[in-house]
Amino acid sequence: MPFVYDFDHSHRRPPMELKDLLGGKGANLAEMTSVLRLPVPHGFTISTDACRAYMAAGWPEKMSGEVARARARLERKMGKRLGDPVDPLLVSVRSGAKFSMPGMMDTVLNLGLNDESVEALAKQTDDERFAYDSYRRFVSMYGRIVLGLPAEAFDELLDSAKERAGAGSDAEVPVAELRDLVEAYKDIVRRDTGRPFPQDPDAQLRGAIEAVFRSWNGPRAIAYRDHEGISHDLGTAVNVQAMVFGNRDDDSGTGVGFTRDPATGAKGEYGDFLVKAQGEDVVAGIRNTEPLSALRERFPKIHGELLDVFARLERHYRDMCDTEFTIEQGKLWMLQTRVGKRTGRAALRMAVDMTRDRAIRLSHEEAVGRVTAEHLEQVLHPQFAGSGHTVITKALGASPGAAVGRAYFTADDAAAAAESGQQVILVRTETSPEDVHGMLASQGILTARGGLVSHAAVVARGWGKPAVVGAEKLRIEGASFRVGDTVVEEGDWISIDGTAGIVVLGQVPLTAAEPPAEFEVVLGWADAIRKGKLRVRANADTGADAANARRLGAEGIGLCRTE
Ligand SMILES: Nc1ncnc2c1ncn2[C@@H]1O[C@H](COP(=O)(O)OP(=O)(O)OP(=O)(O)O)[C@@H](O)[C@H]1O
Ligand SMILES: [Mg+2]
Repeated sequence: MPFVYDFDHSHRRPPMELKDLLGGKGANLAEMTSVLRLPVPHGFTISTDACRAYMAAGWPEKMSGEVARARARLERKMGKRLGDPVDPLLVSVRSGAKFSMPGMMDTVLNLGLNDESVEALAKQTDDERFAYDSYRRFVSMYGRIVLGLPAEAFDELLDSAKERAGAGSDAEVPVAELRDLVEAYKDIVRRDTGRPFPQDPDAQLRGAIEAVFRSWNGPRAIAYRDHEGISHDLGTAVNVQAMVFGNRDDDSGTGVGFTRDPATGAKGEYGDFLVKAQGEDVVAGIRNTEPLSALRERFPKIHGELLDVFARLERHYRDMCDTEFTIEQGKLWMLQTRVGKRTGRAALRMAVDMTRDRAIRLSHEEAVGRVTAEHLEQVLHPQFAGSGHTVITKALGASPGAAVGRAYFTADDAAAAAESGQQVILVRTETSPEDVHGMLASQGILTARGGLVSHAAVVARGWGKPAVVGAEKLRIEGASFRVGDTVVEEGDWISIDGTAGIVVLGQVPLTAAEPPAEFEVVLGWADAIRKGKLRVRANADTGADAANARRLGAEGIGLCRTE
């Protein structure tokens, strides 16, 4: 079996059935390229077999030749070469396991830049600022992910460059500062690793591929798999893909879009985008994003194309899809899709809606299969009891349900407090994959920055944890925060409502939720399917339990303890 497959390789089965081999991201990139014929930048996937071979015995010899040949094919398709001193090709090196592990592994962007090709890129595009912005992103990502250097060293330099230049955002840092930043970044690499930043694209590529393989066993990936019950033996695939540039100019941008609302299940597109930005900028909450609906005014043609892509994706996958896209100088590129994660409320609503949707025509059996026990449990999440609480701030309700706990300001502190038996709300400016253990330990999550597709929002929804994000009035300073005149110190009680997006001081009493109307519908279908095959009997020990079980449809008592 080969280790490497181009996105347009003709597989015998639909690529989306080959997630074992290609990983979810690789399989869906191949599906979008070769079956749906959507605009996807060319690339190739190094299989999960290769990752497992690497983990068992180091870099497999035959992989060097396969990667070199795939790279040559990619260069031919693009008419550009990696590291070329006149017209260089740049690539991303992306992780992608069989089961989606959002943001838990690593990706390197803009690979192929060096001191020579950055000048070529500047000339080719007649945009020095863009070239050096891409280079500084690459050196810091490579430093962090491949060479294992701490992110802070790079971030601090960027922050002081912004300050010196009086720039409000990354996009406003002038080219002279960017040039200096690249030099300063390279100095960090030389100082901390004892070697200069690698200039040879071959060495860069090999380094990045190995780093992505290694990220399978990174602490956040392991914690995530433990929680999700995903096997540690699967390994990740690696996708090497030609770069497209959302940071090119004001006619460019990048975004994340869902084909329906993943929080409520409502029909219609949903998501965020940022003009003149690249990749992670949207998710990291670096600048305030705009909602997808704003695309309609800014890029009406692209907005139409994107809606068309969304409709085709839903018809093809017969489900709600989550996408990443980039606009480069007025052209739309699709960079990722997968069946999207959703809240319990959304899962119920979508399952019912899709049985009536002519493009999807879900059967009742399929609809029931789309709703998990966890989804059902989620809609039974508690809500604030009564009304008239003193709301200290209002922000985005990113993951529904209410939660009450003591405020903690770092993931480690939150995890430690939970360990000692406390109920915790994790309060952060924004979260990153390094905070996952603290998020897991918390009842709910509150962030000062980020939108509905920020890391905190996505992870919290996946786990059904209430979250309020983008609370911009929150001023977090060390182990306390201030909103207006209110100060909340570490250990103080707060309550959040992730449905309404509100934060309340103190402990609000909670009540059971009213599940949405689709709850009864889906359970009704489940009942019809199981009739004659399965009976449901309750585990009840008291008369009251038995009456409750009957009311909820149990047909008898299956287990009763009398001692
Ligand atoms: N070839 C490319 N051109 C432009 N942007 C890219 C390219 N490849 C990746 N990106 C962007 O870089 C970011 C990170 O990539 P990637 O999708 O690999 O990881 P992730 O989104 O952090 O995690 P996940 O594994 O859940 O997708 C994304 O926003 C993606 O759209
Ligand atoms: Mg992604």
